[in-house]
Amino acid sequence: MDSNNSMSCIFCSALLMFFFTSKTLLCSVVANNTISSGQSLSGNQTIVSQNGNFELGFFTPGKSLKYYMGIWYTEASAENRMVVWVANRDHPLNDLPSSELKLFDNGNLVLLNDLKMPIWSTNSTSKAFKSSTAVLGDDGNLVLRDGSSIILWQSFDHPTNTLLAGAKLGYDKRAKMAAQKLTSWRNSEDPAHGIYSVQSEGPDGNFEVRWNGSAAYWSTDAWSTDSFYSTIKLRSILNSFNFSFISNENESYFTFSPKDKSVLDFVMLDFNGQLKSYFLVKEMQSWNLIWYQPTLQCQVYGFCGDFGVCRENSLPVCQCLPGFKQYHPKDWDLLDYSGGCVRETSLQCGGKDWFLKLHNVRLPVNSKASRVEKADNCKLACSNNCSCSAYAYTSAGCLTWHGNLLNIQQLDSDGDDLYLRLAASDVSSSGRKVSVLPIAIGVVSGMIALAVISVLVVFSRLGRMKRKVNTSVTEEDNSPGPMHHYTFLTAFEYKQLKVATKNFSDKLGGGGFGSVLKGVLPDSTPIAVKKLEGISQGEKQFRSEVSTLGLVQHVNLVRLLGFCSEGNNRMLVYDFMSNGSLDSHLFSKDDSKVLNWSTRYQIAVGIARGLAYLHEQCRDCIIHCDIKPENILLDADFTPKVADFGLAKILGHEFSRVLTTFRGTVGYLAPEWTTGVAITTKADVYSYGMMLFEIISGRRNMKQHVNGKMCFFPTWAANKVLSKGHQVLCILDEKLECIADVEELTRAFSVACWCIQEEEIQRPSMGQIVQILEGLLEVNSPPIPKYLEALLENEETIISFFSE
Ligand SMILES: *[C@@H]1O[C@H](CO)[C@@H](O)[C@H](O)[C@H]1NC(C)=O
Ligand SMILES: *[C@@H]1O[C@H](CO)[C@@H](O)[C@H](O)[C@H]1NC(C)=O
Ligand SMILES: *[C@@H]1O[C@H](CO)[C@@H](O)[C@H](O)[C@H]1NC(C)=O
Ligand SMILES: *[C@@H]1O[C@H](CO)[C@@H](O)[C@H](O)[C@H]1NC(C)=O
Ligand SMILES: *[C@@H]1O[C@H](CO)[C@@H](O)[C@H](O)[C@H]1NC(C)=O
Ligand SMILES: *[C@@H]1O[C@H](CO)[C@@H](O)[C@H](O)[C@H]1NC(C)=O
Ligand SMILES: *[C@@H]1O[C@H](CO)[C@@H](O)[C@H](O)[C@H]1NC(C)=O
Repeated sequence: MDSNNSMSCIFCSALLMFFFTSKTLLCSVVANNTISSGQSLSGNQTIVSQNGNFELGFFTPGKSLKYYMGIWYTEASAENRMVVWVANRDHPLNDLPSSELKLFDNGNLVLLNDLKMPIWSTNSTSKAFKSSTAVLGDDGNLVLRDGSSIILWQSFDHPTNTLLAGAKLGYDKRAKMAAQKLTSWRNSEDPAHGIYSVQSEGPDGNFEVRWNGSAAYWSTDAWSTDSFYSTIKLRSILNSFNFSFISNENESYFTFSPKDKSVLDFVMLDFNGQLKSYFLVKEMQSWNLIWYQPTLQCQVYGFCGDFGVCRENSLPVCQCLPGFKQYHPKDWDLLDYSGGCVRETSLQCGGKDWFLKLHNVRLPVNSKASRVEKADNCKLACSNNCSCSAYAYTSAGCLTWHGNLLNIQQLDSDGDDLYLRLAASDVSSSGRKVSVLPIAIGVVSGMIALAVISVLVVFSRLGRMKRKVNTSVTEEDNSPGPMHHYTFLTAFEYKQLKVATKNFSDKLGGGGFGSVLKGVLPDSTPIAVKKLEGISQGEKQFRSEVSTLGLVQHVNLVRLLGFCSEGNNRMLVYDFMSNGSLDSHLFSKDDSKVLNWSTRYQIAVGIARGLAYLHEQCRDCIIHCDIKPENILLDADFTPKVADFGLAKILGHEFSRVLTTFRGTVGYLAPEWTTGVAITTKADVYSYGMMLFEIISGRRNMKQHVNGKMCFFPTWAANKVLSKGHQVLCILDEKLECIADVEELTRAFSVACWCIQEEEIQRPSMGQIVQILEGLLEVNSPPIPKYLEALLENEETIISFFSE
């Protein structure tokens, strides 16, 4: 396609431009890595390490309006900046131009605010006047030396949340205390001391991650033991990194360095309480998460704060208990839930309160056991004491809680029942049944858009309410929900893959990009190897896949096991999917490959979950840009995996509308691709809707008729069901012989119609789609998209769709 080519050229030149600007930027500042005695840095001045990897200067995190002095990797653009050290983390500056970092003649490095008041300092003094220097080293360490090169102070001794290669995390044997400590940021926009920290607990090198300096929720064994490796589960990346534990009479510490000097790597304690390790292969320009612990978010102690409920793999992860509201909603918006929730209505006590039963939860911490027999007496014991906020009668007897409730988790099974004390008025309102008023369709067309928007608003409200009800009074469905896979990216050698694929002989498929081969690893794990060909196109796809898929882990996304980048060879290694791609089942003439309705529905839900994760749950928003049945793979159990991230695009967290280049496949492309409007995640929603029609009908949406006319299945289907009042079963794949759950089919059909609405604002989000398909959110009949209405040809053309 011509337009495709010219568009991708625009994309190329944009890439080149980016490359150019970042290169020139580097060159112009690389000259100076030093602040000399008497000098200062102010405004947008920075110093850069000699190798060009690190930069020191003022920065503002995210959308914050505050200024901080810090060190960051030069690799990424400003909005993806990886800050590795912050000087004034608890004391931000409001005014940039007049603030400065100054090295005084006495050897003290001081940060001065606009009133020239010191707000941070190294407190160092040099014996030699006017001879000290502060140098930003190639390892990212800011080192302050006096004239005789004695180290007066260095940033490696005062880490914030990040441990860089070459830095120590250790224990001071003489002072008998941790020598360094990493403390999380409060949220992505505030580097102030957060609630999580990690440090060495003793001279043997065991590390603990703690909440508020007390409760430890993850720890390693002592370094000297074999189990140290298994606790940190680093075995599979030991090949790439040199880890050492050094112990002498004064100190013991952990440190690491990458074996390959072109790899950058660091460990950081993220504000969500997880210890994470990222690495960057320089040419790829994006960070890859290779390791994190604990692997489950709800294992992080106190993550949802007081009276919050944690639910693994849900969106958002934290909710308030019924009858409670977010204490600091602004922090919740930044995914910082540690402030927890507060009661909406205060308790009246004296027998006026009710107890609400929460099903299947992990009980909060700090219970008191009381020796009463029956459940009724347990309730009485709690209701008679005004400070009692909840009770549970478990196999361990009667437990009561006084004051705040921390660490409740909603489980899918094997949990306990917790009885929560609430004001009577809160119990009746949260127990109310929620239903949606049907809104008649066929309103004047101008009104439709308005109605749709308000319906969507209602949706999201109801979504929230209904979830609350779900955690409280109704029986939870036991759907397992998406699970986080947990893997490392391995850098394979060319010859390893050559052996694994028997000299690239067992071909599974191919395309313009190259070929896909089947292989087996030495530990007999079956793999699929994608061998990219065509130097520039291959390189682009390679980077795109590694940088997007390397960042994400989800049961409904294909798992990237590793990659190979040697010379001109670019290969990607994935889990092998024994059932092939979705299109091979949907459009197959082979009866044995036909998928029954419930499998199709599970596939639709799975894909939606995978996309919801991409759009809403991972660190950056990722738009896949090429959703179609060919890019959905099925494993042995027919669990769908979204694959082929060669066109995917990572957007910053602010979901900025930056994509204007043409990507994707005709037939699944949202109208905004062709109208030149910038692209959002709703483009994926559109493609998903198109694909959903194909899953329902088992036929391609678009088909060229004998007379050369293009037929468009969704048009026919929407028209038939919505305006002609036919049964939804009539659009079902006839190979299924009308055997389908009609409620599910109706839901799927409505979702598909909503997804392909012309206006992206009318399309639901992927998260809402999951809820609708799971039956948690109700949905109204959608309008027929207007542009489809225009496409409506006479009935005969359309009916001929069915006469093959
Ligand atoms: C670079 O460093 C040298 C001394 O190390 C200093 O004299 C010079 O002023 C610095 N240049 C800039 C632009 O800061
Ligand atoms: C730094 O700030 C000055 C004055 O505010 C401005 O003229 C200059 O373009 C800025 N430099 C960079 C690299 O942003
Ligand atoms: C410098 O001293 C002040 C006052 O004692 C202290 O608050 C601050 O933390 C010290 N700075 C560093 C970097 O140790
Ligand atoms: C953290 O601990 C301090 C005392 O060490 C306490 O005052 C504070 O309330 C605790 N924070 C939370 C959120 O519990
Ligand atoms: C690993 O690190 C230790 C301590 O820093 C060092 O002695 C050793 O030579 C390093 N090994 C390699 C292969 O880099
Ligand atoms: C331990 O500290 C003492 C006193 O500062 C010093 O003399 C000695 O060299 C240190 N030992 C090591 C192994 O660094
Ligand atoms: C309520 O329970 C708390 C905590 O167990 C206890 O300290 C207090 O004395 C009790 N109050 C009454 C009135 O029993």
